[in-house]
Amino acid sequence: MNTQTIPVAIINPDAPPESLEAKQPPIDNGTERYGKEGYFSRDYMAREWQKMWTRTWLIAGVSADLQEVGDYFLFDISQESIIVTRTEEGVKAFYNVCAHRGSKLVFEERGNKKVFVCPFHSWSFHNNGELRRITDEETFHPEVIAQRPGLTPVACEEHAGIVFINMQDSPPPLLEMLGLPQGYLETYRIDEMKVVRHVRSEWGSNWKVGVEAFYESYHLHAVHPETRGVMGDLNVQYDLYPHGASRMIVPLGQPSPRAHDQTTVNEGLQIMLRDAGIDPEGFTGTAADVRQAIQKGKRERAKRLGLDYSRFTDGQLSDSWATGIFPNVQIGCHPEAAFLMRFLPHETDPERFYYDTMTLMFPVEDPNYCPPGWMGLPEGTDVSGSVRPQTEHYTIEEDANLGQVLSQDSTLMPIVQQGMRSRGFKGQLWGEQEQRLRHFHVELERRLAQD
Ligand code: FES
Ligand SMILES: [Fe+2]
Repeated sequence: MNTQTIPVAIINPDAPPESLEAKQPPIDNGTERYGKEGYFSRDYMAREWQKMWTRTWLIAGVSADLQEVGDYFLFDISQESIIVTRTEEGVKAFYNVCAHRGSKLVFEERGNKKVFVCPFHSWSFHNNGELRRITDEETFHPEVIAQRPGLTPVACEEHAGIVFINMQDSPPPLLEMLGLPQGYLETYRIDEMKVVRHVRSEWGSNWKVGVEAFYESYHLHAVHPETRGVMGDLNVQYDLYPHGASRMIVPLGQPSPRAHDQTTVNEGLQIMLRDAGIDPEGFTGTAADVRQAIQKGKRERAKRLGLDYSRFTDGQLSDSWATGIFPNVQIGCHPEAAFLMRFLPHETDPERFYYDTMTLMFPVEDPNYCPPGWMGLPEGTDVSGSVRPQTEHYTIEEDANLGQVLSQDSTLMPIVQQGMRSRGFKGQLWGEQEQRLRHFHVELERRLAQD
């Protein structure tokens, strides 16, 4: 494979090789064209469930939702529902099903319970999974209930403010399988952040079409032309990590190299300056100076607010580190906020998925301290973190109010899905701006080929 002439963007050429910012050594994933049946076939969908979803670490939720003992949330994926809860002995997970006759146990998606009571015959279970009480126990032959049937556990681990589950009986170590360098997620202190918005909307394509669209910035100029003034969509650093993980660093606060005007401090850049605590009226630089001004402004503000930003590089203060965790997650990492998006398969239809997004804010009292505009937080959203908002659910027909950028994506997904179905389409052709897609598919195919 000859990659000699393909340009490679590096955000900070001076970044030490062992740093989180450094361009990772390339991984040769070949140039093969993959089949397209994985986007429509129910057999393929079933294979993904058996070989992949039930045999991998998945992000079930965030530590912010499990602050107190008894706090729990449900993680629903395809036909499974899993209770994730904080017990006296740490975070645990169980299938949301009663040991007696299999009724679903818990229905509210979040809450605090020390005891789960089954709605069918009122057996009850402690939140550590142990059986608490069998109704009319004396009416059972002792051998039927000899093992004191409790809830069936699911492997569960908390890391960097994120809660992972794995449906395998003896899963491999989470930190090894994550693939990201040590310290990568920890840097953002997601464990101290609060959920300020949570939306689960249904989109009209296979879940992989969703992952793919968010794993590249190649489509920005065409689908999100309004980002041209403020995002370096072409000079994006793409990095591949083991086990399907990947990252793209999208420089923000500078016009796209595709833009003709590289000097005017346009409206979008003015907003970004303001968000960094800089008055755009008094700004004397050109568009080319904005990104650096944002970095400086945020560092100064951090000092004022008593926040330790020494752990962040300048680039981390301005840019989006969009971080992909196999199979179905991307986290937009910023010092102020994290945008956790999960692409969850539909229960039955390979041509639909759930786009589940959580906006997490680092709680700071400063009126300008806000998540980047691309996260699409509706105006007036309470970003203080004092109240955990309910999850908003939207069907495929409803507008999820995700903001301009994300609704452009949701409009596009079914168009791609439908087009790929055509007899005239032979499978995707990926460029190097789409190397994360190939990396994802190599890992997916590897998983599906397992015994
Ligand atoms: S099914 Fe739960 S108590 Fe009977
Ligand atoms: Fe997009």
